[in-house]
Amino acid sequence: MAIRDIILHPDPVLKKICPPADAADKAVQVLARDMLDTMYNAPGVGLAAPQIGVLSRVFVMDCTPKEEEARPMILINPRITWQSEDINIHNEGCLSLPEMYEDVKRPARCVVQWCDVNGATQEQEFDGLWATCAQHEIDHLNGRLFIDYLSGLKRSMITRKMMKLKKERAHG
Ligand code: NI
Repeated sequence: MAIRDIILHPDPVLKKICPPADAADKAVQVLARDMLDTMYNAPGVGLAAPQIGVLSRVFVMDCTPKEEEARPMILINPRITWQSEDINIHNEGCLSLPEMYEDVKRPARCVVQWCDVNGATQEQEFDGLWATCAQHEIDHLNGRLFIDYLSGLKRSMITRKMMKLKKERAHG
């Protein structure tokens, strides 16, 4: 079990577009396991590779309610192939923006195609929290954060709060 440090906003790494990952590479499998450990430890429901400083198109998620058995998912080179016209508003958070929550509008359902750790292509439709999470994490792989959906004023307020938080943490 390896828990990695989570990079906090603002950081240039979180703004980068990640290149494709090689699903056959053992390093990607180790990375994905570490990401799951880091996500469950945080705790969170999703984590993308750039959030631990790795520029690679990999994310993990598990939106299962606490009382149910865990269902960890590893998605390599994910691609949204369909999004519903109906919209869902979810009060989103992000492990790179601790304690910050804002309503974000996204398609309520989406179909995602990805490569699993065995190199097989998978495709699934997601709804509810799973759909929100998948779209939020794929945004991370394209250098986009949920605060990019907010007004410039709200975004700069949150960024200022985050800079203060990072300064406090750095000084212990
Ligand atoms: Ni996030």
